[in-house]
Amino acid sequence: MSDFVYLDNAATTFPKPPEVIHFMCDFYSRLGVNPGRSGFDLALEAEEVVLETRERLAKFFGGRQRDRLIFSHNVTDALNLVISSVLEPGDHAITTCLEHNSVLRPMYQQAARGVEVEMVPFNADGYVSAADIASRIRDTTKLVVMNHGSNVIGTVQPVEEVGAACRERGVLLVVDAAQTAGLVPIDVEQMKIDVVCFTGHKSLLGPPGTGGMYVAEHVDIEPCRSGGTGVKSALKGQPDEYPWHLEFGTLNTMGIAGLLAAQRWIEARGGIDAIHSHEMALAARLHAGMSRIDGVQLYCADLSHDHLPVLAFNINGMGAEQTGMMLDVDYNVVARTGLHCAPLVHEGIGTAKIDGSVRFAPGDFTSVQEIDRAVDAVAKLAEYAHSRSHSAA
Ligand SMILES: Cc1ncc(COP(=O)(O)O)c(C=O)c1O
Repeated sequence: MSDFVYLDNAATTFPKPPEVIHFMCDFYSRLGVNPGRSGFDLALEAEEVVLETRERLAKFFGGRQRDRLIFSHNVTDALNLVISSVLEPGDHAITTCLEHNSVLRPMYQQAARGVEVEMVPFNADGYVSAADIASRIRDTTKLVVMNHGSNVIGTVQPVEEVGAACRERGVLLVVDAAQTAGLVPIDVEQMKIDVVCFTGHKSLLGPPGTGGMYVAEHVDIEPCRSGGTGVKSALKGQPDEYPWHLEFGTLNTMGIAGLLAAQRWIEARGGIDAIHSHEMALAARLHAGMSRIDGVQLYCADLSHDHLPVLAFNINGMGAEQTGMMLDVDYNVVARTGLHCAPLVHEGIGTAKIDGSVRFAPGDFTSVQEIDRAVDAVAKLAEYAHSRSHSAA
């Protein structure tokens, strides 16, 4: 592997723990049959792996019933399924300007079908207000769907307060936990979340193409999709029982095995608090180093508030794409640039018209030395941008 500094963990964590990769390979070579469809020994053994993963992830999200843990392709898939299944023309639904396109686009689709979609703005620090969301709930409000942690600015939203307001008014709360699952504790009961949607390849440390949702026991979602389940095959519709009610077709068993190995790895590592502390210490070092550089603008980066190890920034006089390209080519520092699939966040922080921002996101495998290399690279680029603007003047 070449000597690069990988700071794109908010896109996908890399590398994955070797234990995850080994377990997946072993699972696929020994048990790569279709579980839940047949009764022979290998299929039952593979099914055990799926069940254990369901069990672990259900508990991980504070759920009590393993069958309420539904697997899907990724968080986008889970969010689409819930949003499209729940909303009908004439309903009112609330979401926020912090959303990723995995929520925005399905909501725009619903708006085109006649759902009234209301967008809640965030404040200058990058937080939505639970009171603001609560004040918009009305009799026709069916759904609040919101981001838990921003993939652009890293702010963690007051989901628990929103949960209390939604539960009181009988409104379904669906949370996009793509960035928080595996870093911030999530407890569907305590936070009064009705459906939490997750993706497997970020801080859950599993492979791409995995994800799903935990659907609280009191919630029933009538699915807008259908297909084979391996059980109750004579029925014309989906079985009422979970998980089959919301799972369609063959599961990504190799990916699910990876999620199981990742859950075991996280536990052995000391749990998500240990990972969060390590990554936040790296983010704080990054923040401190970058704050000292003239000409660097950080966005909504007050790490003393609820925050993820995600920092968005720009260098004065240099577009985000150019900064990202020079970081990569000249300094071997890998970051994500542009709008990060969250255009309304960039409108809110004023970067929509300057091709977005650069994002640094350290991961559990990032070292202090790598953070220092990234800060040094930014300092050199800021100096370069400064001298370029002076020679042009
Ligand atoms: C907040 C947020 N939501 C949704 C997604 C989409 O994740 P996936 O592509 O795994 O569905 C991402 C990925 O970047 C994200 O950061």
